[in-house]
Amino acid sequence: MSSLSVQHLLGIKYLNEKDIQLIFETADHFKEVINRSIKKVPSLRDITIANVFFENSTRTRLSFELAEKRLSADIVNFSAAQSSVKKGETLIDTVNNILSMKVDMVVMRHPNPGAGVFLSKHVKAAIINAGDGAHEHPTQALLDSYSIREKLGDVAGKKVVIVGDILHSRVALSNIFALQLQGAEVKVCGPRTLLPKHIESLGVEVETNLRKALNWCDVANMLRIQNERMDMSYFPTTREYTQQFGINKNLLDSLEKEIVIMHPGPINRGVEITSDVADSRQSIILNQVENGVAIRMAVIYLLASMIK
Ligand code: CP
Repeated sequence: MSSLSVQHLLGIKYLNEKDIQLIFETADHFKEVINRSIKKVPSLRDITIANVFFENSTRTRLSFELAEKRLSADIVNFSAAQSSVKKGETLIDTVNNILSMKVDMVVMRHPNPGAGVFLSKHVKAAIINAGDGAHEHPTQALLDSYSIREKLGDVAGKKVVIVGDILHSRVALSNIFALQLQGAEVKVCGPRTLLPKHIESLGVEVETNLRKALNWCDVANMLRIQNERMDMSYFPTTREYTQQFGINKNLLDSLEKEIVIMHPGPINRGVEITSDVADSRQSIILNQVENGVAIRMAVIYLLASMIK
């Protein structure tokens, strides 16, 4: 069996194109499994996984937990809010205490960029980054590309625009890396204040006119404004942001061609996307969530096969 070139999933920047193809082929198999009446396989009966979340999550956390249960792994869940982190315990001490209970793999979400890389150098377990601050969210980017492949047949040659708060988004950076590795063209669109200064050095083009960006693309990935990471005002009012960078049904229907609409969630309905677009025939938002389980099963399975 082929294996990944990495022992941890810390970011898309550490993967190569073959890794992504292997994850997708493995996810194809698991997608078929989770659509059977018995949605479970015994593959990881001897593996224990800790889900360690220092930041809020709905989709990622539930999706990892379901993926682990579908693979028959034993799991423990840790949430910083109810833990001894509140009493001053460090990240390494926290995780080493969890590992001394014989845990093989840690899925971690953390507010600090690089937290997963740091952990991988200090503890003996496979680490999966479930989002580290405004840095990377690799499984989100994998499920996003997988959903594009499912909808449009391939990612290579497709034009994807990522719209919104690029500056504070881990989804944007991981998507840029993943899409480019697979041969897609990427543009970013948003207010200048929410675009990193040297974003073009990543090989992406900037477009500040939303209609132009949407007329160019095959796929628009609409991002939420990350208010929780902002320490100042980046645009005059939410209403003004929505007028310039929000997508509504009138705009969608007036484009030169039919495009695919994506969103990583959580959605702020009426801000970056209206309900009639989010729930439209062109939206694959819930397909992304469904595919997240198969993608995470694939990542966990492939990393676990390197532990055994
Ligand atoms: N897309 C995503 O990461 O959502 P959660 O923050 O709910 O996990």
